[in-house]
Amino acid sequence: MKKILVTGGLGFIGSHTVVELQNEGFEVVIIDDLSNSSESVLEGITSITHKKPIFEKLDLKNKAAVAHFFKSHSDISGVIHFAASKAVGESVENPLLYYENNLNTLIYMLKYVLGLQESNFIFSSSCTVYGQADTMPITENAPVKPAESPYGNTKQIGEEIIRDTCKANQKLKAIALRYFNPIGAHPSAKIGELPIGVPQNLVPYITQTGAGLRESLSVFGDDYPTNDGTCIRDYIHVVDLAKAHVIALQRLLNNKNDTNFETFNVGTGVGSSVLEVIHAFENVSSQSLNYKFAPRREGDITSAYADTEKANSVLGWEAKSSLHDAMDSAWKWEQKIRNL
Ligand code: UD1
Repeated sequence: MKKILVTGGLGFIGSHTVVELQNEGFEVVIIDDLSNSSESVLEGITSITHKKPIFEKLDLKNKAAVAHFFKSHSDISGVIHFAASKAVGESVENPLLYYENNLNTLIYMLKYVLGLQESNFIFSSSCTVYGQADTMPITENAPVKPAESPYGNTKQIGEEIIRDTCKANQKLKAIALRYFNPIGAHPSAKIGELPIGVPQNLVPYITQTGAGLRESLSVFGDDYPTNDGTCIRDYIHVVDLAKAHVIALQRLLNNKNDTNFETFNVGTGVGSSVLEVIHAFENVSSQSLNYKFAPRREGDITSAYADTEKANSVLGWEAKSSLHDAMDSAWKWEQKIRNL
């Protein structure tokens, strides 16, 4: 049984990935500093998989603690590195916090991974690296555009750090997964997204409005050059996204990678407008959502959806769930945590 380290393993995407890893028979060790997650997520994971992962509360910026951790877990075969700060607005206000949290910790992590017997590394990247791409759907060859925010920049620089390290060390094998918009929750409703404070992302805002926590959703912009005037994104069910991590890891563990640094888009290939997401929510919840149009949000792009050909044919992965499935699971999760 191979031992896999998942940093940020109690977060939204991390926790779903831990479940899929355990379902595939991997032994999982989680590091999480609980800065944007809760230890109670461990119970959800354990209840779904009937197996409790090893958990160490640890701040990855604490070099001595990380060194000690790797000493006692030198048998790790792969690392999936989720731990990072991810609030775009906060990154604009406090860029150094983002560069420190997201880049310093990546550098330490790569150093330790290089010291392991097997150096397999999966990185959480984002479609944000493409900015407003010139053509849709977006392939992995689309140019990386100047980042709109320090958060986005940490993903671009993160990929560069890994690419350079792979070039200098053939031993290191890495895959960067460029996520489109992850939404939804585990179908068991035992784990899901737990945004702290007012959600910045569309789907948790919708489900909280549906649950009565927010009065009304503001739809940012109704004059975009799209069919209904609202922005288009590629919303991917978090369980599909989690499975992509396991498949990417297996590719590295089985030496199936073509080069020692690869990038893959992880999306559904389907673009949905904000209004289509609202209608999907209304459909699964059998209620109408209170929403109003508001001015455009600064930094938002018109449209982004993935060309999934490379992930389908090279990685052998494809998204299985529809927007309807994802919204249904998101709503079940919201109802569960609000005791509705
Ligand atoms: C955002 C980040 C992106 C990050 C991703 C992680 C920004 C500008 N981008 O992507 O860098 O990788 O989250 O999940 O923050 N919307 C509304 N009303 C709302 C919230 C959102 O209309 O209250 C609209 C937005 O204008 C957008 C769509 O819903 O068109 C999706 O927004 P969101 O969920 O925040 O994701 P992104 O902006 O695509």
